[in-house]
Amino acid sequence: MPIISIFRSMKILITGAAGFLGSHLSEKYVGEGHTVYGIDNISNGNLNNIRTLLHKKNFKFIYDDIRKSDIYTKIPNDLDAVIHLAAQIHVDRSIVNPEETFEINVNGTLKILEYCRTNDIDKILFASTSEVYGSAQYVPMDEKHILGAQHPYGVSKIAADRLCYTYNETYDLGVDIIRCFNFYGPRQKDTGYGGVIAIFINRVLQNKPPLIYGSGEQTRDYTYISDVINAYDLILKTKGNPGKNGINFGSGSEISVNKIAEVIIDKSGMNNNQKLKPQYLESRPVEVQRLFADITRSKELLNFKPMISFENGIEMLIEWYKNFKSELWTF
Ligand SMILES: NC(=O)c1ccc[n+]([C@@H]2O[C@H](COP(=O)([O-])OP(=O)(O)OC[C@H]3O[C@@H](n4cnc5c(N)ncnc54)[C@H](O)[C@@H]3O)[C@@H](O)[C@H]2O)c1
Repeated sequence: MPIISIFRSMKILITGAAGFLGSHLSEKYVGEGHTVYGIDNISNGNLNNIRTLLHKKNFKFIYDDIRKSDIYTKIPNDLDAVIHLAAQIHVDRSIVNPEETFEINVNGTLKILEYCRTNDIDKILFASTSEVYGSAQYVPMDEKHILGAQHPYGVSKIAADRLCYTYNETYDLGVDIIRCFNFYGPRQKDTGYGGVIAIFINRVLQNKPPLIYGSGEQTRDYTYISDVINAYDLILKTKGNPGKNGINFGSGSEISVNKIAEVIIDKSGMNNNQKLKPQYLESRPVEVQRLFADITRSKELLNFKPMISFENGIEMLIEWYKNFKSELWTF
């Protein structure tokens, strides 16, 4: 697919701009000289993630909720692109409060799509997820895999993913449906319902054992954040909508939770006396057992190639934790 030549500055709206992925993408596009309008209600994000951007002229932060109609009056109606990331992302919380999750993930997405439709915005990147597939029926999992999610978070993402598809078909809106498999890196939350890698590193660096639910043989396909940023950037700067029918991004390999714990313990330097071993807890309800991406489509359409191996990614993240993580909570 042809790449758009971007010499002019763009106006980009990023929802969820103070979150894990949103803050990295905001940083990238502000750094490239584009004007970024970032919305976040800080329900899961952190102002510290964007503290270096807040004083920049080309970063406009809107501290509010995507579901509120009046916030759209604060955004110009001639945006070049919208990157819609804001979501309630926690599976456990979606099980406790499915209504809230659907309100944010489905109705919130509908608001964004309507805003784009009424303002003729034709480049919209929607953060769907591999969680829409549910546990693998076959591997590697391509975009034709059944949408078999069994928990409210995954089902809310299916609804939003299909809404985006419907807006493509019905209104000819240019939405790319991005299905990243799990990703990890600096700024991912390591508390409560955060990603397993962040939680394990946080525990291991305090000399506490990683806690594994079930046998630990469940697998995931983990991509380092810089590869995910590259994936979004390839989509943003490619003409047309290569992700119209859904597009997977992942590492293209699977790793068990046991192996994740082993690599983190090994790379942390905390295991001199070999005492740090995972502790096993009862399985959680509706946990996906296997995820493993087929990334043929993103390779063929975008020349996507993940660059960071799992071991390297973990090394970089542990270094970040040792040097910078404490700054995160001091804003
Ligand atoms: N982290 C992963 O492994 C992963 C994998 C696949 C897809 N995704 C998707 O990527 C997107 C970003 O994920 P992330 O890990 O950066 O999550 P995150 O929670 O760090 O970022 C989401 C941001 O949205 C904000 N937000 C939530 N509800 C809002 C609302 N109603 N109004 C305004 N802001 C709101 C939160 O405060 C948060 O800052 C999500 O849509 C997620 O479903 C994440």
